[in-house]
Amino acid sequence: MLTITLFKAALLALSCSLVHAVPAAEKSKTSAAVPAKSSTSTAIPTVHKKKAEKEAIRVPVATRVAAPIVPTISAKIDNIVVKLNTSSSAAKIKAPSPGVSVTSAAGTVLIFARDAASAYSAFSGLNGYGISYQVVLVPDGGISSLPTLNSSATVGNYGAIVVLSEVSYSSPSGVFASALTADQWAALYQYQVTFAVRMVRLDVYPGPAFGTTAVGGCCDTGVEQLISISNATAFPSAGLKTGVGVSTTGLWHYPATITDNTIATEFAQFAPATGFSDKTTAAVINTIEGRQQMVFFTGFATDWSAASNFLSHAWITWATRGLYAGYRRINLNTQVDDMFLITELYSPEGAEFGITPDDLAQHITWMKTINAKLPAGSSYMIEIGHNGNGNIEDAANTTAGERQCGNGPIEYPEQIDTPLEFSKVLGTGTNLWPAWADDYPYTVGCNNLGALEKWFAKAANRDAFAHVSHTFTHEDQNNATYYDVTREISWNAAWLKQVGISSAAKFSPEGIIPPAITGLHNGDALRAWKENGIIYVVGDNTRPVLMNKVNEHWPLMTTKADNGFDGIQINPRWASNIYYNCAVPDCTVLEWQNTSAGKGDWNDLLAIEKNTNVRHLLGLHHDPFMFHQANLNYVSAPKMTINGVTAKYSLLQAWVETIVVEVVRLVTWPIISLKHDDMALAFLNRMQRDQCKPVLSYTTNPTAKTITAVTLTTTNNRCDAKLPVTVPSGVTDVQDFTTEQLGTDPLTIWVQMSGSPVTFTLKTPIPFYT
Ligand SMILES: *[C@@H]1O[C@H](CO)[C@@H](O)[C@H](O)[C@H]1NC(C)=O
Ligand SMILES: *[C@@H]1O[C@H](CO)[C@@H](O)[C@H](O)[C@H]1NC(C)=O
Ligand SMILES: *[C@@H]1O[C@H](CO)[C@@H](O)[C@H](O)[C@H]1NC(C)=O
Ligand SMILES: *[C@@H]1O[C@H](CO)[C@@H](O)[C@H](O)[C@H]1NC(C)=O
Ligand SMILES: *[C@@H]1O[C@H](CO)[C@@H](O)[C@H](O)[C@H]1NC(C)=O
Ligand SMILES: *[C@@H]1O[C@H](CO)[C@@H](O)[C@H](O)[C@H]1NC(C)=O
Repeated sequence: MLTITLFKAALLALSCSLVHAVPAAEKSKTSAAVPAKSSTSTAIPTVHKKKAEKEAIRVPVATRVAAPIVPTISAKIDNIVVKLNTSSSAAKIKAPSPGVSVTSAAGTVLIFARDAASAYSAFSGLNGYGISYQVVLVPDGGISSLPTLNSSATVGNYGAIVVLSEVSYSSPSGVFASALTADQWAALYQYQVTFAVRMVRLDVYPGPAFGTTAVGGCCDTGVEQLISISNATAFPSAGLKTGVGVSTTGLWHYPATITDNTIATEFAQFAPATGFSDKTTAAVINTIEGRQQMVFFTGFATDWSAASNFLSHAWITWATRGLYAGYRRINLNTQVDDMFLITELYSPEGAEFGITPDDLAQHITWMKTINAKLPAGSSYMIEIGHNGNGNIEDAANTTAGERQCGNGPIEYPEQIDTPLEFSKVLGTGTNLWPAWADDYPYTVGCNNLGALEKWFAKAANRDAFAHVSHTFTHEDQNNATYYDVTREISWNAAWLKQVGISSAAKFSPEGIIPPAITGLHNGDALRAWKENGIIYVVGDNTRPVLMNKVNEHWPLMTTKADNGFDGIQINPRWASNIYYNCAVPDCTVLEWQNTSAGKGDWNDLLAIEKNTNVRHLLGLHHDPFMFHQANLNYVSAPKMTINGVTAKYSLLQAWVETIVVEVVRLVTWPIISLKHDDMALAFLNRMQRDQCKPVLSYTTNPTAKTITAVTLTTTNNRCDAKLPVTVPSGVTDVQDFTTEQLGTDPLTIWVQMSGSPVTFTLKTPIPFYT
């Protein structure tokens, strides 16, 4: 390999001396006369920097269709006409008999919902944690029987019950009533009492059964009424901040007052709003007839409402008593693609942008200030996706580089876009890489001629970021050949090694960010990735075919049938309205307006980003977020006001500041960045965990009315992946399992199952009723 490199360098030196002071127009002629060097000598003097010009710009969609705003109709409650789509509890439900006999209950959460679309608002939060649940759809007309709640007098099958909108339907006369019968409700109440199980009722009309009365319905279009947690005492390990209002836009709700404080305690509140001069009750905890329930007088829509995602943590923590086989973590992974490439900007038209060391250095300073704002236990770090050919282009575009950069950078004509989900027939396509491109040829001397590379080569700069390959030249891989893709991967790996990036504290050797997320239906490309050590990539959540259809928290494994090759793991990744080809707000706002029907200014765009991405983060989605090198422009960024502070910010900084400050306003949870391969492994582990079907059972002391221990079981009590057991306070013995507890988080024990159930005794037994 060494001899080949030297040979090419020698040839190049020759060609350079031949072409040296020859005018550009004549260079190709001159060099063409020299055999085997024509591509070489033409490439160097006429370097056209590869542009990242084919990134995806699409309006994000979900793989599942979001449940719409729940329609309300004018209906009657106690002969008063109100707008609603739920009911209050029926009056004639038989009171449960006292007496607790539970010795053990499985933690599975039983959910009753009208339809699959709305059920999402009850299970998406649980799914975020990985807590087991079961959905029962209750159609108009009801169900003939409830699931078997207990299979013996002392062992319960469910650890909590959730009912959405009372599973109520409107009669022809406009009266809403639950499709569960009074006997079925009575059976659920009895189960609660006997098995010390809590109930959560989402989207309920206030009424005497809850110790409340409705003040009205809210809100008509254009009216905002904020909702906040007013008392978090009953769910301390949820880590939710009290008194911070979140928007109820789109959520029809029923401001209430408490009429019987012997059974109702408020824990969430509506702020005053048009038509409601005082603050009102938004949710209560009832302790009634030996059982407890949490009742929300608002609709839920975790698909599109950040507030619903926020409030979910209150009921999930309360219903499970903070004791669950599951895991709560915010991962904020901001990936910056196209490092070393030049980007043609959307606006001003014709302008180009390439990041400078000054831009990057300022992001190191800024990462320190942002980390200082984060809750205890946090660590945020930007990750960078590199294209090494851009470094060679920089280097070769110098007098010294003409001599030191061998055949020069890889150049090929601009590619024509294939259709988005183009599937290549194996073995087809045309090589764009030149025939001389065999082993990676460049020298450190060449690399170091690029200013950006020299900056990254300093360990302190390098280690301030995480790093991953974005392929060598950013060739579109949908129609690419195995020959080309092999080089795209292996040359970039060689370059990353040579410049020292692969020795960084946070480097991901087994992953790439595919260029413009191409190649995912090209079996030749996927095989080239695999054969060059790449098993993890990111996809694009605007493209449903790149997402897992079974569970949104699972990665997608490629198959020969769908992708042309088996076993590459595609991890979900979010796009945003910060476009790849923008370096300042005016540009991204213009592009948002022109391509995505955006309406408003930079602040409006950021407000949308805030709602969308706070929702994703509070929904415990661990998908990274897509950014590009132009978004890190700081040097020529304008001043703007973000969270009340007027200063210069890069687009990425403005976005991160906006989202992070909102998350910190709402929760005390640590915010953690994972490097690409760790993120990917976490997705893989999550899928494997779910496939093991973990269930956490509570062991109780029915006399003392406490939960004393928990036992984890899985299918065959085995699982390759470690399983999280989260407890609100300690256990007597963690049994040598790994533990995780950051900041003010509860303790999570990562259990490696090895054939038997695993039991933890709680240090402090948890009372059934608090
Ligand atoms: C090459 O370098 C010159 C001088 O630094 C610069 O003006 C020019 O834009 C560069 N060309 C490319 C294609 O980067
Ligand atoms: C009530 O909401 C459900 C969605 O959960 C919807 O399907 C139904 O049409 C609504 N009912 C009325 C009467 O608007
Ligand atoms: C469920 O529990 C109740 C109360 O302990 C008991 O009466 C009933 O028999 C149990 N059901 C089954 C199927 O064992
Ligand atoms: C807050 O909630 C706790 C637990 O539900 C309750 O005991 C306490 O009385 C509530 N505080 C107020 C001020 O309502
Ligand atoms: C794919 O490449 C082949 C060979 O170069 C070419 O004929 C074909 O038009 C390309 N297909 C698309 C969709 O670009
Ligand atoms: C964006 O839209 C405006 C108004 O329609 C138009 O004038 C402008 O040319 C568009 N910009 C680009 C870059 O397409």
